[in-house]
Amino acid sequence: MIKVSVIFGTRPEAVKLCPLVLAMQESPDLQVHVCVTGQHREMLDQVLEAFGIVPDVDLRLMRPRQTLADLTSRAIAAVDRYLAESRPDMVIVQGDTTTTFCASLAAFYRRILLGHVEAGLRTANKFSPFPEEINRVLTSRLADYHFAPTQRARRNLLEEGVADEKIFVTGNTVVDALLWALEKIRRDPPRIPDLPPDLLEGNKDKRLVLVTGHRRENFGRGLEAICRAISSLALRFPDVALVYPVHLNPNVQEPVRRLLSRIENVYLTRPLDYLPFVALMDRAALVVTDSGGVQEEASSLGKPVLLTRDTTDRPEGVGVGAVRLVGTDAAAIVENAVRLLNEPDPCAATVRADSPYGDGRACQRIVAVVQESLVPTSCLV
Ligand code: UD1
Ligand code: UDP
Repeated sequence: MIKVSVIFGTRPEAVKLCPLVLAMQESPDLQVHVCVTGQHREMLDQVLEAFGIVPDVDLRLMRPRQTLADLTSRAIAAVDRYLAESRPDMVIVQGDTTTTFCASLAAFYRRILLGHVEAGLRTANKFSPFPEEINRVLTSRLADYHFAPTQRARRNLLEEGVADEKIFVTGNTVVDALLWALEKIRRDPPRIPDLPPDLLEGNKDKRLVLVTGHRRENFGRGLEAICRAISSLALRFPDVALVYPVHLNPNVQEPVRRLLSRIENVYLTRPLDYLPFVALMDRAALVVTDSGGVQEEASSLGKPVLLTRDTTDRPEGVGVGAVRLVGTDAAAIVENAVRLLNEPDPCAATVRADSPYGDGRACQRIVAVVQESLVPTSCLV
């Protein structure tokens, strides 16, 4: 039996690793241990609950307004104590958060094999996204198995000298999560208590714009400009509902609530559970976001995405015409949104049969690699 510890701490890691945990639990050769750092609290728990996963260990690290350095130091020490006790054959991490990097470094210090899911995304700009670009570069230096979502990600890794035989192009597990969620919501459509019922059900003529935003490099001026653009769109299109589930980071809550809470057709909600959020994306005419996961999911659903970032680490969505990089200039956001909302069907140009990010079988491929590559430590003695 191979013991694999899957370690994660935030909402997006949970969305992209929960389907992998479920797939690993099906394998008779793997013993899966789930350790959450609790870098996020409510937003992590929402995803665990949606997938029905109860962690074996919860390090409960989140503090209000935690700083990068403080969280980093506490996470390395806490994950190290967990690894010393749990002694897995392999650690699996995902993406580019503080948890990802700290768990990778802690695994290296304990000389435990490391698998990195969603390896190879790059912008080549160390401050954008911040601090994620450097987190993933450092994680790639530490990893033994690189699960690249796309061929482009594989090429990025090869250019940095990663050995070809250690890179596995699997697709992004976000598509596995999305397909799982779509099946659930089609069988049992969710309700969202914070929103008028007709936004999800019935009244399909009422158009909906879904907004999210939380990147550190957008804090301050960038986020305020995004809010001004949303406000201007709301006034220009009184018949359109703009729904913004607001990230719990106080640096997001404060400006968003100050600038947008009094506009009639702007609906600010708490972070939504995963299934209702996917239902809203599926219902949206347009998505405005700076999120990594949301742009992947929305473009997989054939929704036009205005990406409020200056760089992209996911050019595949831009390549298929679903994603437009608009930065944080209010006028550019408004101009692009107006053009799309004035079209009879804003999704017409982007609707596509398959996702540029994967086919929904990424987890299956990762499980196969882990099973084939690892010999249980007991056999090596
Ligand atoms: C983190 C990740 C970012 C990821 C994002 C996904 C890092 C450095 N950043 O950013 O890569 O895109 O998560 O959402 O790893 N908070 C709560 N409850 C929660 C979550 C957050 O109250 O469930 C508040 C707390 O005050 C916390 C603050 O938000 O201190 C910041 O959380 P943190 O994880 O440090 O940063 P994020 O901005 O969430
Ligand atoms: N998400 C969610 N509820 C929300 C907003 C987002 O469940 O209210 C999900 C979304 O479907 C995606 C993930 O959270 O899978 C993205 O997380 P986030 O935007 O926080 O982080 P990023 O992907 O930018 O790192």
